Amino acid sequence: MSASSSGQSVIGQPVTRIDGRRKVTGAAPYGVEYSIPNLAYGVGVASTIGSGRITSIDASETEKMPGVLAVLHHGNVDRMYRPAGSFEEQSRPGESRPPFEDENVYYYGQFVALVVANTFEQAQDAAAHVRVKYEAKKPLVRMDQAPAPTKPPNAKYARGNAEQAFAQAPVKLDVTYSTPVETHNPMEMHATIAVWEGEKLTLYETTQGVVNHHNVASQMLGMPPENIHVISRFVGSGFGCKLFPWPHSWLAAMAARHVKRPVKVSVPRILMFTTVGYRPTTQQRIRMGATQDGKLVSLMNDVMQNTSFVDEYLEDCVEPSSMLYSCANVAAAQHEIQLNMGTPTPMRGPGRTPALFALESAMDELAEKLNMDPLELRLRNYAEQDESKSLPWSSKHLREAYKQGAEKFGWSKRNPKVSSMRNGNEILGWGMGTCTWPAHQRGAEVRVRLMADGTARASCACQDIGTGTYTIFAEVVADKTGIPLDRIQVVLGDSSLTPGPISGGSAATISVLPAIAKAAENAIQAVAKAAVKMPNSPLANADPKTLKMSQGRIHATDKQPDSGVSFTDVLQAQKLVGLDGQAKTDAPPEQKKYSLHSFGAHFCEVAWDPDIFRLRVTRWVTSIDSGRMINLKTARNQIQGAVVMGIGMGLFEETIFDQRTAHPINNNFADYIVSVNADVPDIDVMFIDAPDPIINEYGGRGIGEIGLTGCASALASAVYHATGIRVRDLPIRMEKLMGNQGVAKKT
Ligand code: MOS
Repeated sequence: MSASSSGQSVIGQPVTRIDGRRKVTGAAPYGVEYSIPNLAYGVGVASTIGSGRITSIDASETEKMPGVLAVLHHGNVDRMYRPAGSFEEQSRPGESRPPFEDENVYYYGQFVALVVANTFEQAQDAAAHVRVKYEAKKPLVRMDQAPAPTKPPNAKYARGNAEQAFAQAPVKLDVTYSTPVETHNPMEMHATIAVWEGEKLTLYETTQGVVNHHNVASQMLGMPPENIHVISRFVGSGFGCKLFPWPHSWLAAMAARHVKRPVKVSVPRILMFTTVGYRPTTQQRIRMGATQDGKLVSLMNDVMQNTSFVDEYLEDCVEPSSMLYSCANVAAAQHEIQLNMGTPTPMRGPGRTPALFALESAMDELAEKLNMDPLELRLRNYAEQDESKSLPWSSKHLREAYKQGAEKFGWSKRNPKVSSMRNGNEILGWGMGTCTWPAHQRGAEVRVRLMADGTARASCACQDIGTGTYTIFAEVVADKTGIPLDRIQVVLGDSSLTPGPISGGSAATISVLPAIAKAAENAIQAVAKAAVKMPNSPLANADPKTLKMSQGRIHATDKQPDSGVSFTDVLQAQKLVGLDGQAKTDAPPEQKKYSLHSFGAHFCEVAWDPDIFRLRVTRWVTSIDSGRMINLKTARNQIQGAVVMGIGMGLFEETIFDQRTAHPINNNFADYIVSVNADVPDIDVMFIDAPDPIINEYGGRGIGEIGLTGCASALASAVYHATGIRVRDLPIRMEKLMGNQGVAKKT
């Protein structure tokens, strides 16, 4: 690997985000922060029933209110279309039914009208005066009240004969776990500014996929793709809810066309709970059969999750059962149940996160039945290959992650007896859980320009959702060229650039790394060719292919940089502003011969005070095997953030729906509890940092989701160890621990 100007590569260093200063000082423009002249404001009117139809919309009073420009609804909006919708082709919407398609209402909070006015306040006031009459039906918001599924499962997996092996197993576990609806709560809420210039539409967005958003816009608005431009330079996080576009974006476009002015539509926090996706509720019946010495002989998972009446969405809980442990007989199947809620969407670690709550909690329960250390049980069932695909792992160091985490935590000192470990008045509980997340490489096309002024520019229609993608681009260019980071400009978040992947599935870094590297190499080759030809070249007659670039200089691969010539001298001598390299990469076929996954382990301690029913998380150690870290600082930040979210998932997060109206009653930051600093101890994050030789030349897999997987089960196991109460239904709310006065007793 080539050296940077300091002689040491920046890859793998704890590099500070190159956009960090702009973000914390407010200089980075978010979607709604563009100053657009003559801007009008759209405020949505959302349904107050969960199921039924609109019988009338009376806007006569509203239309006369000050500043009101239009009231749009299904009776007067321009035609919109359903998208073909494909994940692979980056044309997937959050919900495939356009807003205002007809009079039907499928969930509480569905947009039924949009008021457009001169100011936000006028629009908000007017929106409260639109009279909508409904014919309401009783909504369905609970899976246990839905009819039993009659269709074949939406996902399934089987090997061996799991039923038979379970029947014959000497040790059996048969338990059911549930996880609630959880709502994404990024700091920056969804919003769109739509600006028309003739037939051309610009959407200022907050999105995890400018290319996907662009393609879906073309389909749903019925417009040629070249007439649409999506801009999302900075994103105040997403956690999955901004992967796919939601109805407010199309409403902004339609409203702007209708009033012939730019229109901004923001989604307020309350509507973040109904109209822009969420993690669906799951129920998982886990059956495990084992020998007395702890070898799994059967593993079954029967999964139910909810979806909406509008669209399908699979929260894949089947996959971890199929690959995490070595077991000859496995069967898992998953059904989607339609409920009167908006359509679910990926939320950090989709599928695997609820799946591992069940699977890893069950491993803890099985370990107790076997009188075996929970970590030892994992090791006895260690999967040396991916048994679901009969493929070797590209790189797996889970054993080392367990060992490193356990040593740092002091796991060997755990007394397995419930409520046996004390610290003053508090009872300590220790728990652990495994993490897993698949690795994917998607297509990406990147352009790198080396400039005569000594800078470089890298660009791609990818985006940085706060995870550090800008910085990764600069690091790779710095690594290849030796140009210092502060002279590298990275341009992302613009659909007019060469197409890049969504920032999702922990796949952005994996997908862009090879394209940035190749584009940089191509740009270097372009300069090398010019260097050979420049007057008085020290490299005259050299074959450009034998040249490389380091410390900003083009030189022979087998010689020192100062033997060559600086790239700025080359470009200036040729009177060029810069030279480009472009590259398009996709997953090489070689990857198909391997199973690509990241792994890890959490170890945590809770302190339970039975006198005042106080539960605190007091220690957390996480060890992650996600290949080589490209940026240690942003990687650690991702894992710490995921654990914070995991503590929220374990102890607090749950969106609660009123069964009469399908109204999410805790649709605000006062009532929907997320973990805050006071809930979170120091989070000790360690990386195995072993390069994955298959994934790419840098050996790095993604890091965004894996830290959340396994958190909730580690917590639930720790809570059980402290209290003797096994909570199988998240979140672990205080009242669930109060039933027996906190004295160690099994439920
Ligand atoms: Mo992640 S749920 O793919 O943003």
